[in-house]
Amino acid sequence: MATKEGGLAGVVAGQTAICTVGHEGHGLHYRGYSIYDLAKNATFEEVAYLLIYGRLPNDPQLKQYREKLKSLRGLPTAITALLESIPANTHPMDVMRTVCSMLGTIEPETHQHDAQEIADRLLVLFPGALLYWYHYHLHGQKIDVMVEASSTAEYFLKLLHGKGFQADSALGKLMIQTMDVSLILYAEHEFNASTFAARVCTATLSDVYSALTAAIGTLRGPLHGGANEAAMMLIQQYSSVKDAEEGMLKKLNNKDLIMGFGHRVYTTVDPRSEVIKAQAKALSLALNDNVIYAVSEQIEKIMWDQKKLFPNLDFYSASAYHFCGIPTGLFTPLFVISRTTGWVAHIIEQRQNNKLIRPTAEYIGPQPQPFLEIGNR
Ligand SMILES: CC(C)(COP(=O)(O)OP(=O)(O)OC[C@H]1O[C@@H](n2cnc3c(N)ncnc32)[C@H](O)[C@@H]1OP(=O)(O)O)[C@@H](O)C(=O)NCCC(=O)NCCS
Repeated sequence: MATKEGGLAGVVAGQTAICTVGHEGHGLHYRGYSIYDLAKNATFEEVAYLLIYGRLPNDPQLKQYREKLKSLRGLPTAITALLESIPANTHPMDVMRTVCSMLGTIEPETHQHDAQEIADRLLVLFPGALLYWYHYHLHGQKIDVMVEASSTAEYFLKLLHGKGFQADSALGKLMIQTMDVSLILYAEHEFNASTFAARVCTATLSDVYSALTAAIGTLRGPLHGGANEAAMMLIQQYSSVKDAEEGMLKKLNNKDLIMGFGHRVYTTVDPRSEVIKAQAKALSLALNDNVIYAVSEQIEKIMWDQKKLFPNLDFYSASAYHFCGIPTGLFTPLFVISRTTGWVAHIIEQRQNNKLIRPTAEYIGPQPQPFLEIGNR
């Protein structure tokens, strides 16, 4: 029997112990920990460990984990050669998908090099590979990815901005903190489309890289991860609050879909939005921005007043990333870096109690009919 709404809306498609998006009204939790507590008190590396290894690390475990991640940053020459050959006008999400697939050929999954090892490797290889490709094609520069940085957030910003990035300045610290919070918020979200794609692939007993490649391809679309890029393009269309009001009313009149708003599971609020919005606001103030944040708030107001639609995580992530100096095309790849942790947690969980995922369809095609000879068609 097909679901009334389509798109498997409201269908319980399996069990998970990794994340709840609102179990008994408790809101978003990763392995029982509130997203608010994690965003406030933990770092992305602690959350990555929680998702990949199943528990929060203690102090020595976290130190060791950070060191391990640092040691995994090197790019194999086969990867740098590949990155140099990928055309400059490629969408960065296609770079992520290709790098993931390529790594699967040179560091394939084995009993020793298992899902957890691959997750750790990709967590640090993804930013290095993405920014190597970015600088190579934009500036003709082969960057050294072995820079000193104590966190994934700092690593990304240092590779992106190079020597110009002042990690110890007040603004630099705020940017690193924003990136860290954002990586935590993006890390996991139950049976979203890309995670489900990874589980479908895993359930056929395929390998980790194949499942992750499927997930990246699924995340790319603007109804899922690509919404943060589309949201930025929307915000940048307006140069003032008044402009935003007029433009948005026109769009809604045209029944346009507004990226960064609405959600399949949440009905009145996305709990992650207020957290990233606070970061965007702090950066806006620190940078004396008079347009981007004000326009974003105006869009939010119009969407609520006119449609009772609320911003999802992607909407204020867009301005937060923009304030960190991140080019719009790199927004969704950042989502990949973070969500790799959640995807791998689900791949491991799927394997622990595997069953092929193969639903049935309600048939709505023609009734059986006689075969038509080619001359009669
Ligand atoms: C996320 C999303 C795909 C969820 O969609 P869904 O559960 O399938 O809900 P629907 O698309 O059926 O939306 C229900 C109604 O709200 C409207 N709606 C939902 N999101 C909207 C949006 N962002 N802008 C304008 N209208 C929207 C739909 O047009 C539909 O209206 P209708 O009943 O008059 O046809 C949808 O809200 C959307 O497309 N949002 C924009 C993309 C986005 O931000 N994605 C990131 C998600 S985290």
